[in-house]
Amino acid sequence: MLLSAPSVNNRFTQLFIAALLLVGLFWYIAPDLSAARHLSIPGFHSAVSSKAPPSTSTNALPPKVNHPIDHLIEEAGKELGVLLAKETHNVHDAAQAYRLRRGRQPPPYFDKWFAFAQNHSALMVEDFFDQIYTDLNPFWGVPAKQIREQANAFLHRISVRDGKTTQRTDIDERPWLNLWEDMVGSVAEWLPDVDLPINVMDESRVVVPWEEVDGYMQKELTSRKEVDASQLKTDYGNLKALDEKGVPAFEPVFDGMGPYWPLAVVGCPPESPARKAYIEADFSTAPPLTGGFPDGSYKGYVQNWTLAKSPCDNSALQGLHGTFVEPISIATTKTFFPLFGGSKLPMNNEILLPPAMYWTDDPFYSGGKEHGQPWDKKKDGLIWRGAASGGRNKAENWKRFQRHRFVSMVNSTSVALAVSSEAAPPNFVLPSDNPYDLAASPSETAFADWLATWSDAAVVHLLCFPEDPADRQRCSYTNPYFSVAPAMPMKEQYAFKYLPDIDGNSFSGRYRAFLYSTSLPIKATIYQEWHDSRLVPWKHFVPIDNGFADIYGVMEYFLGNEEKGVGGHDRIAREIAMGGKAWAEKVLRREDMQIYTFRLLLEYARLCDEDRDRMGWRESGVG
Ligand SMILES: *[C@@H]1O[C@H](CO)[C@@H](O)[C@H](O)[C@H]1NC(C)=O
Ligand SMILES: *[C@@H]1O[C@H](CO)[C@@H](O)[C@H](O)[C@H]1NC(C)=O
Ligand SMILES: *[C@@H]1O[C@H](CO)[C@@H](O)[C@H](O)[C@H]1NC(C)=O
Repeated sequence: MLLSAPSVNNRFTQLFIAALLLVGLFWYIAPDLSAARHLSIPGFHSAVSSKAPPSTSTNALPPKVNHPIDHLIEEAGKELGVLLAKETHNVHDAAQAYRLRRGRQPPPYFDKWFAFAQNHSALMVEDFFDQIYTDLNPFWGVPAKQIREQANAFLHRISVRDGKTTQRTDIDERPWLNLWEDMVGSVAEWLPDVDLPINVMDESRVVVPWEEVDGYMQKELTSRKEVDASQLKTDYGNLKALDEKGVPAFEPVFDGMGPYWPLAVVGCPPESPARKAYIEADFSTAPPLTGGFPDGSYKGYVQNWTLAKSPCDNSALQGLHGTFVEPISIATTKTFFPLFGGSKLPMNNEILLPPAMYWTDDPFYSGGKEHGQPWDKKKDGLIWRGAASGGRNKAENWKRFQRHRFVSMVNSTSVALAVSSEAAPPNFVLPSDNPYDLAASPSETAFADWLATWSDAAVVHLLCFPEDPADRQRCSYTNPYFSVAPAMPMKEQYAFKYLPDIDGNSFSGRYRAFLYSTSLPIKATIYQEWHDSRLVPWKHFVPIDNGFADIYGVMEYFLGNEEKGVGGHDRIAREIAMGGKAWAEKVLRREDMQIYTFRLLLEYARLCDEDRDRMGWRESGVG
């Protein structure tokens, strides 16, 4: 499953070979040693680095004025400014920000948590923890005893007792579970007793009907108050009584019968487009795309990232994303109970932890220790390599899968075919009336030629179903449209400036590594993660719609189109790439995942406690 990075440092090998070649060349053309005297070490280096891919930046040409993306980037700058202005520097101010945003007293041990965060030089902004409250608030609507007992009795779980972790599951080894236990363990010495039921599948699992969750949310609102400091219970109970008594196994009923869309939309608000949408059953046809502007966009580009990601608001996603077309596995429940996982859809009720894939050192996910060469040494292009995952693709549904669609849409050959032939492309559409006002209209051949100058996307495995046992790389139904490329370690992908990141079977585990890299992540997803309120679209990464109609406009904005005399914004791309990296190094560190987990588990432990309504941290000198 995992790629191992070559043991020899690649760049070093390249330099070494280049140096050998260069020396050989000198022996051949310049036997006169006086010529070789000019071969100083710095000379060597510049000769070698001039072998780096030539920059085709079109910054010499004027870019289009008043581009919609200029506006979005400017707005993003303001949004980040507002976030940064909320930074707090001491526990008093942090607690005050907590009360303002959450309407309650901070949980017991808030001071220890703050000390931990401060010891690890965290940038402290209360909004960074919003996801915790999205996930946990409905649990105020059910009795503490119920949560505690369900959690204790669930088969797969991580537990903290007396500051130490243990785990329980059904098989010998589950790598993700081990990683999560390690992550929780890294802050366990400060934690009260808790049980965390863990989702051991990739897919998210809990969809409680919206109306039921709304009822819990109403109860949460009624219970929400700032308890007077003098009334506060400032410590947690423990789970000894529960452990001694024991509770019968808790096995919520998981439904394994798809399709998933009808099971999932019950989690959307009643007035949302998804609840009213016609339910598609046939995915064998071309996808329902127009190539026009996505709903809610700003002149075609993502302006509300929450909206762009939301299947509740974009009912067409039922036929445009493998999660709904045909997931690999479905095991979903309507039972409201605490289940921890790494990502979820907006209609799911899981409690998010930082994903185990972000905690591992495995370079397949982490990208390794190096984060890429300097911007100017990179190719002015986009690279994507990955499996054709997203769900179980088959002859009768592959045209609706997101990774297939993305690869086809940036494949200049398939685009050229779409431009020239009578037949519409099988899995995407090209707009005929150039709504994005591209320099080369998608209906002319020059458009495909332009694509060829910057795009390099390919699948590394077609993941056909059923698989041909004689040739696992052959797929009768997709072979004509895709060529399989060898896998490429992330650090080699960093040789390109633009790194699109597209959902697989659930969220894409490489996102954090992409953010940490010196290249620019271009992100489409329907999944939520722990870090969502920490990242500002257009400031730290470039958001795109799940239909991908905007990808061409985005690439023209950054790269320009030299043939057509339109310049790009290479400098801005570099600023977002490097700004995103610097930001990731501030707010997405391993320490930040620990701080998030620490806070999450203090809140969760309070929710599981019989005295939760009067529990909180008492500020010294108050009450
Ligand atoms: C924070 O650092 C101080 C000083 O090194 C140490 O005494 C304390 O235990 C640390 N607290 C936490 C919660 O990390
Ligand atoms: C963005 O979209 C979400 C989801 O539909 C909505 O709740 C929110 O109000 C929107 N935000 C803005 C600023 O329009
Ligand atoms: C690009 O599209 C052409 C035509 O559909 C196909 O033959 C080729 O294999 C595709 N390339 C990749 C990298 O998938």
